Amino acid sequence: MNDHKALILDEVRKFHQDTQTDKGFVPGVTEIWPTGAVHDVEDRVALVEAALDLRVAAGTRARKFESLFARKMKRRKAHLTTSGSSANLLAVSALTSPKLQEMRLRPGDEIITVAAAFPTTVSPILQNGLVPVFVDVELGTYNPTVEKVAAAIGPKTKAIMIAHAVGNPFDVVDMAALADEHDMFLIEDNCDAVGSFYDGEPTGSFGDLSTVSFYPAHHMTMGEGGCVLTSNLALSRIVESLRDWGRDCWCEPGESNTCLKRFSYQMGTLPAGYDHKYIYSHVGYNLKATELQAALGLSQLNKVDDFCAARRRNWRHLREGLEGTRHLILPVATPRSDPSWYGFVITVDPAAPFQASELIAFLEDRKIGTRRLFGGNLLRHPAYMEQPHRVVGELTNTDIITTQTFHVGVYPGLTDEMIEYVVSSIKEFVEARG
Ligand SMILES: Cc1ncc(COP(=O)(O)O)c(C=O)c1O
Repeated sequence: MNDHKALILDEVRKFHQDTQTDKGFVPGVTEIWPTGAVHDVEDRVALVEAALDLRVAAGTRARKFESLFARKMKRRKAHLTTSGSSANLLAVSALTSPKLQEMRLRPGDEIITVAAAFPTTVSPILQNGLVPVFVDVELGTYNPTVEKVAAAIGPKTKAIMIAHAVGNPFDVVDMAALADEHDMFLIEDNCDAVGSFYDGEPTGSFGDLSTVSFYPAHHMTMGEGGCVLTSNLALSRIVESLRDWGRDCWCEPGESNTCLKRFSYQMGTLPAGYDHKYIYSHVGYNLKATELQAALGLSQLNKVDDFCAARRRNWRHLREGLEGTRHLILPVATPRSDPSWYGFVITVDPAAPFQASELIAFLEDRKIGTRRLFGGNLLRHPAYMEQPHRVVGELTNTDIITTQTFHVGVYPGLTDEMIEYVVSSIKEFVEARG
């Protein structure tokens, strides 16, 4: 390493030390965040080192991250994107590619999903002219059953796209079998569940495509960022094309003619030999992540197993501490799963003598951060009310979630003292309300 660079990175380490001021935990004063990124000195150094290299567009670090992350998630390919939302957009858009021939989804085709969701699990379905079909979820697991999804399949249903809710896997083995049986695609939105397992295999490794978010609230972060994963090489090429302007060529930036046929293609009505670098087989986007995001991602990847272990520990602490508390429906792991939790979800029993909003206000007043289960029932939001959709059965639990459900944090930045304070505060509120 060049001397100046080594000196600068040394200073960065010292600067990092200066930022480490632990003021101690003061109950009711210190913020207990529901989510947050955990960064160490290596993250800071990795980011500055990448900045010093002044290669901002995705390059060797991005390729290395994609390869390591794909291996970790047991998929053949990983494609870095700007966010989890753009990963979802690419995954759904990929299913509409003409390259899939008769398997391609066409406007008006349906994708089964849930309304108790993060908006950008559902939005790409609409953005592609497809129709979301909503089924209800279970309270406790916050996932739909395979039976509910099976009952929603109609003649135009071509795919299932569901998130592993708050880190808790849905029954992905049977869901994948159902999709197979009906020649449908399965997309796992794995944005909240990196590190979760179902039948001992990582979530995100079962569907035709899966997605991840690297926003700071998630299991590991790049500040912003996301990823599409697949083991299907045809889908992988389509995702890459859609992400990279829609181009047909697959050379990395800075490379040319890796196929040795750059000037030998004839596509569309273009003249024979037109430069393959500028032939477009999709109406695409530019949703590429940067080298700086990848630098942070590589550094976080070294720690993600520890982060997931801390999330499990914090969740268990909350679960054991709150066991038996009246009027609360506590979260349960889906059978056969080992969740790497995103948050600790609580539903206030609709028959309780208090509303979730009152408990939320009490906790927020004590600086205990809460979040709703994302949008609750998305169909009750202005954006989605008038959109084409189908609902199968009643969205009873989805509506209960909208009014009665919230989550508190389990992220690795929380200490045992903080978790203990969350537990005692919830119990104090519930006991006072009978
Ligand atoms: C289940 C789920 N899907 C998708 C996203 C979108 O990810 P991003 O914020 O990176 O766009 C989120 C965001 O938190 C999410 O929770």
